[in-house]
Amino acid sequence: MTDISDIDQNNVPAHVAIIMDGNGRWAREKGHERVFGHLHGVEAVRAALKGATELGVKYLTLYAFSTENWNRPKEEVEALMDLLVQTIVREVKDLDKNNVRLRAIGAIDALPDSCRDELKAAIESTANNTGTNLILALSYSARWEIIEAVKSIVSSGINPEEVNEKVISDHLSTKDIPDPELVIRTSGEQRVSNFLLWQIAYAELYFMKKYWPDFREVDFQEAIKEFQKRQRRFGKTAEQ
Ligand code: FPP
Repeated sequence: MTDISDIDQNNVPAHVAIIMDGNGRWAREKGHERVFGHLHGVEAVRAALKGATELGVKYLTLYAFSTENWNRPKEEVEALMDLLVQTIVREVKDLDKNNVRLRAIGAIDALPDSCRDELKAAIESTANNTGTNLILALSYSARWEIIEAVKSIVSSGINPEEVNEKVISDHLSTKDIPDPELVIRTSGEQRVSNFLLWQIAYAELYFMKKYWPDFREVDFQEAIKEFQKRQRRFGKTAEQ
């Protein structure tokens, strides 16, 4: 158990975004199919959400399925979609009980019907919750999102001189969500991989070696502690 008494409650990021990576490698190293890693990844999703709700993190965005993930073998894509539906159906009551509001960003209409329908139902049924916003990035990529924003800005007939940061932010799928202050990526990879590229301009990046299925609440807390160390040094000398 990590001691969370040394976490400064006044300096907890409002928005944490996570690139959940390494499910496949975790499974392979244990001699299983990749899908086994995704199954165990759900436990890690629960742990991350618990970490976020306990610390009062208002927004937790999870990169659950990228636009590029559609290119994976058909069986893996189907297994991931099934897992998503099953998890949503199983967890929605608990999300509600914990005052969590489920949201999604991405090309949701590209998801299989059952997946999209369950997702929309869960989003609606938790819409009035006021605790942590759990945002699933599904069929999402930042470049896709920026292209959609540009299309929408152009078709709205706005004058080029009027285009500014706010106009662009307001046309992204995260329009009413503050930018992430912390991005966590598991599995030792140190890349951003087409995730919230506009929104993470000033975010702290935290990379950890563990594969996603091994991620636990304590890892979330460690990431917050690291974030707070970096914040405290910002613009100051080490002695200040
Ligand atoms: C990355 O590992 C993981 C994914 C692309 C899928 C994430 C899905 C889950 C954690 C399960 C369900 C999620 C929810 C929100 C219910 P990888 O397959 O890229 O692993 P690798 O890099 O080792 O190949």
